Amino acid sequence: MSVMHSSLAHFRPTGFDRMLAPIHRWVWRDSERRVQKLLRFGQTETDGGHDILRAAEMTSDPLLRRLYLKHAIDEYRHGELFRRRGTALLHTLPSKPEPAFQADWLAPGGHGLDDLHVEDESDNDLLAFLHLSEKAAASRFTVYRDVLRNDGPTCAVFEEILHDEVFHMSYTLTQLARVSPQHHRRHLWRARLSRLWKGYLRIATALVGAMGTLFLIVQYFILLPPFALLAKRAARREQPGWTPISADRNGSLDRQY
Ligand SMILES: [Fe+2]
Ligand SMILES: [Fe+2]
Repeated sequence: MSVMHSSLAHFRPTGFDRMLAPIHRWVWRDSERRVQKLLRFGQTETDGGHDILRAAEMTSDPLLRRLYLKHAIDEYRHGELFRRRGTALLHTLPSKPEPAFQADWLAPGGHGLDDLHVEDESDNDLLAFLHLSEKAAASRFTVYRDVLRNDGPTCAVFEEILHDEVFHMSYTLTQLARVSPQHHRRHLWRARLSRLWKGYLRIATALVGAMGTLFLIVQYFILLPPFALLAKRAARREQPGWTPISADRNGSLDRQY
């Protein structure tokens, strides 16, 4: 435990996460959003636990199996801790929270394991992916813990989970170097590129969605008003009641059209 504490003491979030701290502070300030985020984080951690449990079933390496099992138990416990804290906060709210803007792309949780098919990955690739994901989670959770200093119990939950995330981050790297001493750097780079590509796809999808909404709003407020105006003017020119039609259009009704 002392090893974990000392590694935590030296753990520093990335510059990017530190730069976003004011945004994270804003995201977490709203108590309804805080409840919803905690409950969602709980779900994500539990889902991560399922995936790592699956990895424990799949691996043929006994040491990795033991570590994966411990890792999965940790993730289930994180899920429980988040859910318990979210539920306790929920009971302090004056009314049932409305679905709020979650800003998930600004303040995501979990380890991004939903991007991964555990069955299709070798131990090398899985360890590289897990190392980077746990590192990213540890970095973000450090910032979340720091911006939640005024909410002692939630801050303590992040602090506790952070110890495990730092351990997950370091054991995955040590094991990657053990199972692939020659090529572990290559696996890490491949995992980095894959995460970058998936991150790009996520941002691009969000951007396209936002642009679609913007385009529809522009259409509604800029393209539709002239047509509405023309329709109004045409309606004003219409004579009320029956209007006689010209003789050449007034033939006998002996055909269908
Ligand atoms: Fe976790
Ligand atoms: Fe973890």
